[in-house]
Amino acid sequence: MHSIAVLTSGGDAPGMNAAIRAVVRAGIYNGCKVYGVYQGFEGLIAGQIKEMSLGSVADIIHRGGTILRTSRSRAFMTPEGRSRAKENLEQAGINNLVVIGGNGSLQGALELSRLGINTIGIPATIDNDVVYTRSIGFDSAVNTALDAINRIRDTASSHGRVFIIQVMGRRCGELALFAGVAGGAESILIPEVEPDFDQITRKIENGLQRGKLHSILVAAEGAYPVMDLKTVIEERTGQDTRVTILGHVQRGGTPTAVDRIMASCMGKAAVDCILEGKVNMMISGMEEKTHAIPLGEVVKGTRTPELNILEIARILSI
Ligand code: F6P
Repeated sequence: MHSIAVLTSGGDAPGMNAAIRAVVRAGIYNGCKVYGVYQGFEGLIAGQIKEMSLGSVADIIHRGGTILRTSRSRAFMTPEGRSRAKENLEQAGINNLVVIGGNGSLQGALELSRLGINTIGIPATIDNDVVYTRSIGFDSAVNTALDAINRIRDTASSHGRVFIIQVMGRRCGELALFAGVAGGAESILIPEVEPDFDQITRKIENGLQRGKLHSILVAAEGAYPVMDLKTVIEERTGQDTRVTILGHVQRGGTPTAVDRIMASCMGKAAVDCILEGKVNMMISGMEEKTHAIPLGEVVKGTRTPELNILEIARILSI
């Protein structure tokens, strides 16, 4: 009989609970023993492992965060920490581990596979910066940012102001790009492209000439310091400019249907891979279509956004 442990690691993302539920239920359905590891790799080192039942994942598909809790574990970055983690799994008689998280967590899964543990990664990060896949949590975070942009638009146009809205994403511009395009932003700043201040200024001024009451700029956190950007805009345009940093608001909240469906399909696919002996893989996919890609390939780089979307945004916000 297979024993499968599941953990969540790194920044939480809406839909992680749906993925945990899928791994637990698909595992039990197939006659496996399924265990939850609490607090990510940190908890694995501390031996916080508990058997899961169908009931332990009831009523969680709609909840943000992760019932297994998470961590960014420094101890796991050391060889001693990793061998402790491996020993704890072996002592519990567990030969398979599903790791739900972003790039750092997938790297962690690969490290454990090198110690002989069968691992499967499931991509989950609001940054959507894992290669070859859409990540669980991204769609929810885009929609949360979009909701905030819609609200800010009301006050921006009432006061006739420029608003800079900073979204998360670490060093990746995907979240800013999608939220910015969907929110009809005048300009979108992402780390992958140098900011063009002349173009940003021109758009605000063109808008003013057409009688537009406000301008919305969406900036990725890794793109350009937003308070410096505010100064540049005020100096160049003379417009009253405000900054809103959305921060961790984007990480919480109920997952969208897209994220729940993706999480359900990826969780089930992870168990299928274990049953077929196709391990040390990451489940990649878009909504219901999934594939398995070797973890060694996934950790070679991070995802670069489709820059043609930025070009579409530039044209449409003329
Ligand atoms: O990776 C997810 C993320 O939310 C990034 O967008 C952000 O830069 C980072 O995590 C914030 O990390 P923490 O929650 O540890 O402050």
